[in-house]
Amino acid sequence: MVEAFAVASGKGGTGKTTSTLALGMALAADYDVTVIDADTGMANLLFHAGLDDVEITLHDLLLTDCDLPASAAVYDRFGMSVVPCGTSLADFEAADPTVLRDVVADLAADTDVLLLDSPAALGSKSAVLPIVLADRIVIILQPTVPSLSDGLKVQEYARAYGTVTGGVIFNRVRQDEDVATIAEQATRYFDGRTLATVPESDAVRMARRVGKPLLAHAPETTAASAFRSAAATLDIHDGDAIGVADRFRNAVVPERL
Ligand SMILES: Nc1ncnc2c1ncn2[C@@H]1O[C@H](COP(=O)(O)OP(=O)(O)O)[C@@H](O)[C@H]1O
Ligand SMILES: [Mg+2]
Repeated sequence: MVEAFAVASGKGGTGKTTSTLALGMALAADYDVTVIDADTGMANLLFHAGLDDVEITLHDLLLTDCDLPASAAVYDRFGMSVVPCGTSLADFEAADPTVLRDVVADLAADTDVLLLDSPAALGSKSAVLPIVLADRIVIILQPTVPSLSDGLKVQEYARAYGTVTGGVIFNRVRQDEDVATIAEQATRYFDGRTLATVPESDAVRMARRVGKPLLAHAPETTAASAFRSAAATLDIHDGDAIGVADRFRNAVVPERL
């Protein structure tokens, strides 16, 4: 059984990486979960998952002359299979983003749920690929009108490639923010439901600093339980692993980018 999600947003800093690992850990209670840092230009999942000293990353797999199997960049951490990406600009430039299709296809054949931590902007091949490849997107928003507007663009783009919206997570919500009004607007404009409202929280910041996902560092916090209920609301669909892997391998990468 495989379903692939792209965790996406219009801008950086909204909490995509935090959310990817939190949803991944929550889903790992019931599923075999693989988390991939598909934000290959601004990779930072390695810092959130204590993997900043590993030798082989997704960047190595994306070199056209790479003969390593995809499993060489998979690390068992926090109950998940985690595929970090390196941070070198030279490696990013040397990487062929279209190879990501094959890597994801290989990994899809071997897991239940794939989570792709996705780039913020939609301006390049490597940025749109996760959204094109995924079955559903989870959109991470701040509870503001500009953030909603950015998220809608992501949804529109995804829809053009047949990727549906699995839901919206409002993150970094401060007490003085009127999240109810914004969430009500969101239900009108977004196809999926509001999966969770996650507060701005010191525990989330600290988790990053110590290199652990929130659900490992501070599982008892309001933020952690919000992510757990978001994961439960996602309602994972059945799929046939080989079919999904083939679909990835044959995905058409938009040429106009
Ligand atoms: N709910 C939250 N409360 C406080 N800090 C948060 C929260 N969500 C994310 N952050 C912090 O904001 C920064 C950006 O989050 P990150 O998940 O890396 O965003 P993105 O991947 O979208 O760029 C990180 O330092 C992270 O610890
Ligand atoms: Mg990130």
